[in-house]
Amino acid sequence: MNFEGYKCGFCGREFFPDEIQYRCDLCDEPLSVVYEYSSLEKKTTVERFSARHSGLWKYRELLPVVPSIQPVSLGELATPLHEAKTLAGSIGLSNVFLKNEGRHPTGSFKDRGTSVGMTVAVERGVKAVGTLSHGNMGTSTAAYAAKAGLTCYILAPANISSTRLLYLSVYGARVILVEDEYDAVYNESLKIGMKYDVFFINSDNPFRTEGSKTMAFEIVEDLGWEAPDWVVAPASSGGMVSGLYKGFLEFKEIGIISDIPKIAVIQPVNSKPIVTAFKKEAEAIERVSHDFISIVRSLGNPYPPSGNRVLKLLRELKGTAIAVSDEETSAAQREMARMEGVFAEPAGAIALAGLKHLIKLHRIEKDEKVVLIVSGFGFRDPGDADSLVDKPLTVGINNLESEIARK
Ligand SMILES: Cc1ncc(COP(=O)(O)O)c(C=O)c1O
Ligand SMILES: [Zn+2]
Repeated sequence: MNFEGYKCGFCGREFFPDEIQYRCDLCDEPLSVVYEYSSLEKKTTVERFSARHSGLWKYRELLPVVPSIQPVSLGELATPLHEAKTLAGSIGLSNVFLKNEGRHPTGSFKDRGTSVGMTVAVERGVKAVGTLSHGNMGTSTAAYAAKAGLTCYILAPANISSTRLLYLSVYGARVILVEDEYDAVYNESLKIGMKYDVFFINSDNPFRTEGSKTMAFEIVEDLGWEAPDWVVAPASSGGMVSGLYKGFLEFKEIGIISDIPKIAVIQPVNSKPIVTAFKKEAEAIERVSHDFISIVRSLGNPYPPSGNRVLKLLRELKGTAIAVSDEETSAAQREMARMEGVFAEPAGAIALAGLKHLIKLHRIEKDEKVVLIVSGFGFRDPGDADSLVDKPLTVGINNLESEIARK
């Protein structure tokens, strides 16, 4: 195993690999897994990776588990990077790609981090796992815990809908509805987890972030071992964007790419803590925050536990952050489905809505290579379904032929 331990990106403090650690004792910021990069260069070549079967475990030298462990897997994919020619043409760009994370076993990018986190749990002999979620992460964790045969606690908000409860419960997880604010429950989950040996694979758990970073590796591989110019991605806790940055930075560290792409973080207008914080120092657009429940339910985190880390990375690596309205997100869902055949949930389509702002702001040049992270499938959470449906025509059988003949 090349896993050397954990490091805090703020104070630089290092932690040993044998303890399960989540956050820095000194600054309370999330920790990152670190590897012995100098010894990795020969083991992590393009030739070696190219020769392997696809899927996130092909990059296992850069994952924090022992080589002999059998991964807990439900068949997560190397998800497709679709070249979106029609969509690109419609917004005046030449090179737009959709990283279709909706293709994973439970329908979102969360399966990457869950697969890695659950494998770590098995390797370390943990008996119970948990997470804090009313959506994709809860569904993913419950499914993989079932596969691993581990007890699973899902902490969800008390006002959860019955459909969401179904997706959490069907895998046999113990769902506990907690009546309190997100950040309080997040902190409490880590404390209780330490005390009772329950491994909480929350949104920015260092091992979940390790899984998410493989999205960056696949993007580079699919673009011929080159980084794109831009990655446009949704953010809630900031775990996924932290993972994307980590993946690109590691590929640079071991010499596979020479440049880090610029990342644009996109959030809905009613819940945009990262955008708001970032706006103070950059040109992200000014928008009014409304007091309403957005259709982008997967991105509602008011206290992103990796928010400071994402802000630091955006500032250091010339990224940006933008908020978009629900109407813009629904329009993006329609366009992605109609032009490219990809049905995304609102959080999965929000990147396209953000991209249009980046074009208006002249941040993106026509020929730059842009990857949109389509983070989740639309079947489970279509968002504003009415806005996606055109009223169908009703005809009697005698008029059917003439309707079709009319074209
Ligand atoms: C579909 C989807 N996209 C994006 C995100 C945001 O990920 P993160 O919380 O890691 O920022 C989530 C989080 O729940 C999600 O479910
Ligand atoms: Zn620290």
